[in-house]
Amino acid sequence: MPGPTADLFADHALQQPAGREQIGEQSYVLRGYALPWIDRLLPELRRVLAQAPFRQMVTPGGFTMSAALSSCGDLGWTTDTTGYRYTPFDPRTQQPWPALPEALRALAVEAAAEAGFAAFAPDACLINRYVAGAKMSLHQDKNERDYAAPVVSISLGLPAIFLFGSHARADKPQKVSLFHGDVVVWGGVDRLRFHGVMPIKDGVHPVMGPQRINLTLRTAG
Ligand code: SIN
Ligand code: FE2
Repeated sequence: MPGPTADLFADHALQQPAGREQIGEQSYVLRGYALPWIDRLLPELRRVLAQAPFRQMVTPGGFTMSAALSSCGDLGWTTDTTGYRYTPFDPRTQQPWPALPEALRALAVEAAAEAGFAAFAPDACLINRYVAGAKMSLHQDKNERDYAAPVVSISLGLPAIFLFGSHARADKPQKVSLFHGDVVVWGGVDRLRFHGVMPIKDGVHPVMGPQRINLTLRTAG
């Protein structure tokens, strides 16, 4: 039976470093920033995913991505053998993507402001689902029409090692551990930095189960 010592240890083990960590000139990890929003976020996310379920997409190079993708908002990021692009319609149904849920928008706008980007107006949210072993190769987010707006990235579920590189693919990226509820914001001079995610380790998150879900909000159109 766990005594007081075991409980203390459990609390300590779950503790995340609080506050704002700077990882670039205009890039921050906001530790646990999404946690107070989770109870509003999860039902919204469930509704979105019922309408636009996760699917495996293929890159222009012909590789199936290990993360499964969906989207909500006016525009959704997609990839197939003909290229990467934003579309107003879910290619699976030819219907508009689900609307960007209100709490998700509000959280992203507040997180952007916290990182120094006022008046963020996201119109696209990419939803990535990683199971054990899934990863995201180093890439730049550059299918958006302009790069004035930051990228706001919300992590849920299993932890990940986020790779935050420079403007050159060959430079060795920083490794940043991301946990359930962390929000990363990068923009301005850092907007086009290479980034990716190392293969997710096997595990079961108490709230999200055996997966990591990442929500990436951008101004695309
Ligand atoms: C992405 O860059 O598309 C996803 C980043 C992440 O999953 O943290
Ligand atoms: Fe990205």
